[in-house]
Amino acid sequence: MSNINRPYDIVVWGATGFAGRLVSEYLTEQYTPNNISLALGGRSADRLDSVEADLTAKTETWDNIPIVIGDATDPESLHEITQDTRVICTTVGPYTKYGTPLVEACIETQTEYCDLTGEINWVREMVDRFHDAAVNADTRIIHSCGFDSVPADIGTLLVQSFATENFDTHCEMVRVYLEEGNGGVSGGTLASFAELFDAASDDTVTQQTLQNPYSLAPPGERDGIDSGEQRYPQNDEFQSVWTAPSPMAPINERVLRRSNALLGYPWGREFRCAEVIPTGSGIGGVVGASVVAGGIMLFTAAMSVDPVRSGIRQFVFPAPGEGPTRQQIKDGYFTVRAVGRCTTADGPVTIETEFSSELDPGYGSTARMLAESAMCLLRDEIDSPVSGGILTPASGIGKPLATRLRDIGFNITVGEQDKSASS
Ligand SMILES: NC(=O)c1ccc[n+]([C@@H]2O[C@H](COP(=O)([O-])OP(=O)(O)OC[C@H]3O[C@@H](n4cnc5c(N)ncnc54)[C@H](OP(=O)(O)O)[C@@H]3O)[C@@H](O)[C@H]2O)c1
Repeated sequence: MSNINRPYDIVVWGATGFAGRLVSEYLTEQYTPNNISLALGGRSADRLDSVEADLTAKTETWDNIPIVIGDATDPESLHEITQDTRVICTTVGPYTKYGTPLVEACIETQTEYCDLTGEINWVREMVDRFHDAAVNADTRIIHSCGFDSVPADIGTLLVQSFATENFDTHCEMVRVYLEEGNGGVSGGTLASFAELFDAASDDTVTQQTLQNPYSLAPPGERDGIDSGEQRYPQNDEFQSVWTAPSPMAPINERVLRRSNALLGYPWGREFRCAEVIPTGSGIGGVVGASVVAGGIMLFTAAMSVDPVRSGIRQFVFPAPGEGPTRQQIKDGYFTVRAVGRCTTADGPVTIETEFSSELDPGYGSTARMLAESAMCLLRDEIDSPVSGGILTPASGIGKPLATRLRDIGFNITVGEQDKSASS
């Protein structure tokens, strides 16, 4: 990293928001001013002062956290912030609305970057507009460093690395199972979700991005054998269970395909992936899968109609800044399992990664995944041949992120199925 002599190691941009507060809180609980030089960023000095006061009251080690003020729509202010910063960790969303000038400023000032976006239309825009510039600037812009898409992306990377290291091959297919989870959702996440539907209603690139399973791959490589995410209840290809579509599959599957492409296709050009929710076997499994699939279909249909979407935003969704309670975050949990099949000289082998946490997926766990992504960037704990570009967690950071998350209590294991072991 060439930006070593800057005043701030990490700026949490959006520290006053629901996710930003959690990220700032985690960083100040886990690290001291001797470990990192941290600053809180946002648009309102008063709101930032109040977050700073809360954080310093909670810890003994932090008695003053610098504040940097700017506006997501004012490129000059962003340039000033990024040129003083080694790593920007941003939770200012919807990213489609607020994200682009910050990505540009980071590339101009060679500032490493990580975010929480799940807005695939915006990631596609960043890929098309800035990938080459980020490569030339040797700057990592890493999207989707939260529950979207770290467990699926890093889980798949671990499965594939295990296949390569132990069997000198790769898995032709990886299936990601959202096995269990409990948690709430914030106003900011739902606003970002609505932004994607807004864009899909009148933007042809967004429509094409949602239709093409390979839409986040590099230009010229946007086709392949995968036919896209599951939409209906189906019998699973690997296990005798029913599965429902996963609402996160549109982003996570495309992220996996982008990781494979950016890493130079170590998982093969014919690599296939899918993310689903297993609902069990027998009649209970069919019913469960039908309920989930029906719910997703109904919600998607409602969100696709402009006036209904506006009504849902106004009267149903929580306001930006609101989210699950502290108790819901503490009581939450998730388990994601990535399962790969590969062919070896001795026959087929099944490899699996279990990726789980005892905090809710979307906020407690996500805040830690984003903060530790920023720490990997800061400490140059990177296992990837790629040093710049519009990247994914697996292609931009790789296995060191799993190491850091294990160290703070995530359960991440990989091994042959029925012989799973930490590695
Ligand atoms: N990938 C995942 O798993 C995951 C999980 C959770 C969240 N997310 C995403 O993270 C994002 C944030 O969610 P959230 O619930 O934290 O949202 P939020 O509470 O609404 O926070 C948004 C933040 O953006 C700031 N902001 C808005 N406009 C700004 C501007 N013009 N200039 C500077 N700052 C501005 C807000 O500042 P003020 O306080 O001044 O208004 C606030 O700090 C969303 O896009 C959400 O989808 C993703």
